[in-house]
Formats: sequence, structure tokens, C-alpha cells
Amino acid sequence: MGTEIASQTGEEQAPPPLYRPFACRVESVEDLTPAEKLFRLVRVDGQSFGQKPGQFMQVSLMGIGEAPISVSSSPTRGNYLELGVRATGTMTEALHRLQPGDELGMRGPFGTCFPVDAMKGRDLLLISGGCGMAPMRALIQYAEDRRDDYGDVTVLYGAKSPDDVLYKSELAAWQRSEKLTCQVTVDNVPGGTCWDGDVGLITKLIGPLTIDPGTTTAVIVGPPIMYKFVIQELYDKCLPAENIVVSLERYMKCGVGKCGHCTIDHVYCCIDGPVFTLDQIASLKGAL
Ligand SMILES: Cc1cc2nc3c(=O)[nH]c(=O)nc-3n(C[C@H](O)[C@H](O)[C@H](O)COP(=O)(O)OP(=O)(O)OC[C@H]3O[C@@H](n4cnc5c(N)ncnc54)[C@H](O)[C@@H]3O)c2cc1C
Ligand code: FES
Repeated sequence: MGTEIASQTGEEQAPPPLYRPFACRVESVEDLTPAEKLFRLVRVDGQSFGQKPGQFMQVSLMGIGEAPISVSSSPTRGNYLELGVRATGTMTEALHRLQPGDELGMRGPFGTCFPVDAMKGRDLLLISGGCGMAPMRALIQYAEDRRDDYGDVTVLYGAKSPDDVLYKSELAAWQRSEKLTCQVTVDNVPGGTCWDGDVGLITKLIGPLTIDPGTTTAVIVGPPIMYKFVIQELYDKCLPAENIVVSLERYMKCGVGKCGHCTIDHVYCCIDGPVFTLDQIASLKGAL
């Protein structure tokens, strides 16, 4: 299943290093929120990463561990790779201690990508919530850089509160941009916080949209609770399951289809996914 979507990009790519990490160097570190940082990395051997929007990397630190992290920058931007990391435990907190010049290991890129070729000529409705903006950002950058390949591009993003909004300066630039439409909403605004955007759940932004179900592909990345309600809104607008793309996050270890940690029924999220169309996972119990 996965190779179908991966092959849709039509770009030749060397096979990823499956088991042995290659060395990367931190070029820069940016605070996105108190809990999230953006790392710009380059390969020490000078090669490109060959990443595609929607894929993930297995990031490792010697003596600490390894974690799957989504590709957060488009290959159209240059020979670097950016990862947005939320500190949640041992490995991600150790990543947060890295400084420019430090080295780390990486395997990948792994998994299926967003179907950037199959979506050519179509209107894109790109919906993300919370940390889901990390992989979505790579797709938005890709669509910006290959703007003539797509119809209307609409970006909807929801966060819990203004302090949780990721990539604030890029969102502001997308809101000003003539290349796409971008709307941001937050669930609530704590007293004393400055916010002049929308307030409410992300579904509130979908309702007023006029969507042509024949020409639109929706891509959704966010916390599990978001999928159910967003998908219902899209079904209400008659968008068929084959034109709704989701990214599933499952507990992963090997990332290459060997350990079985990421399975849903007969599907391996690490190699068959993480990107699926809704019709591909319709029969999988508990997928969403
Ligand atoms: C395909 C994929 C893409 C991801 N992309 C990102 C990203 O772009 N940015 C980001 O910040 N995080 C991302 N994650 C989640 C990230 O992998 C986990 O937060 C990280 O592995 C936690 O490791 P830890 O040692 O810091 O935490 P631990 O101390 O091990 O655990 C802290 C929490 O993280 C969860 N967790 C632990 N290991 C994994 C794992 N292998 N997969 C999923 N959850 C795990 C645990 O259930 C626990 O809730 C992604 C996960 C997957 C599967
Ligand atoms: S993470 Fe090991 S099989 Fe998918």
C-alpha cells in the first residue's frame, strides 16, 4: 500500500539507510514554544536527506535512544532538514539540550509521503492541529514552492491556546501571502493573553468553506480526537474517502517493518504509512 503513495512523487531516490544511523550536525535551534523547538540539520557527509513531506526520520542520540520525528521542511528549500520536536520524555528532552554544532544520528527518511504528485492540479485543503503542523509545514512549503502544480491552497490550523501556536512567523507570512489562504484558530484564550485571530475548534473554520468535492483533496494531521470531527465535516461537504488523506501516529521502534510495534491489524504504520487515504484504512479497526 505504502509504495503506491511513495511512488506518486515520481522522484528517484536512493534507498534509505535502514539500520545504521548517519551523522548529522545541528545548524540552528529555534524556540517555537516553551515545549517545542525547531532544529535545522545537515548531513555531515554533505549529502541531501532525500526527504518527502509526510515521511519521518529515526533520530538517535548515543547512549540515550531513538525517536521517530516527522520531516518538517520541504526538500525544495535546500540541502537541510528541519524537525519540530516537543519535549515529552527522555529522548526528546535530550534533543532539546542540543546546541548548534552538536551531532546526532539519523536513519531514514521512512514511510509514505503525502501524495504530492497525485494531488497535482487539485485544490488542497490542508488541516492540522497542535503538533500536526510539524509534518504539515513540509507540505505547505512544498506547495508554495511548486505553486503552479496546484489549484487553490487553503491552510487551516488549530492550537489549544495562543501560546501553543507553532511556527507563528510562518503562519503570519502565509496569512499575508497571495499564494494561499491561511486561517488559525485557538480553542481558548486565557485571560491576559493577546490574540486577534479566531477562537473555537478547527471544525468552526471548515463549515463556512465552499469546497468542490470533485477537485479537492483534504490532508489532515493532528491529535486523534480531531480526526473524527474534521472527517465528519468533510463528509458533510461530500468529499469522498479517497480524497481525504490522513497521517497516523503509532508507537514505533524500528521504523522499517521488522519489530511489529506499529501494526494496526495487518498494516505496518511505519512502512505502509504513516500517510494513508481514508479509503485505505476504512476497514482497519481503531485506525483513527
Ligand atoms: C511517525 C511519527 C512521527 C512523529 N513526529 C513527531 C514530531 O514531528 N515531533 C515530535 O515532537 N514528536 C513526534 N513524534 C512523537 C515522538 O516520536 C515521541 O514523542 C518520542 O518518541 C518520545 O520519546 P521520549 O524518549 O522523549 O519519551 P518517552 O519518555 O519514551 O515517552 C514519553 C511519551 O512519548 C510516547 N512515545 C514514546 N516513544 C514513542 C514512539 N516511538 N512513538 C510514538 N510515541 C512515543 C510515550 O507513549 C509517552 O507518552 C512522532 C511519532 C511518530 C510515530
Ligand atoms: S516500527 Fe517496527 S514494524 Fe513498524
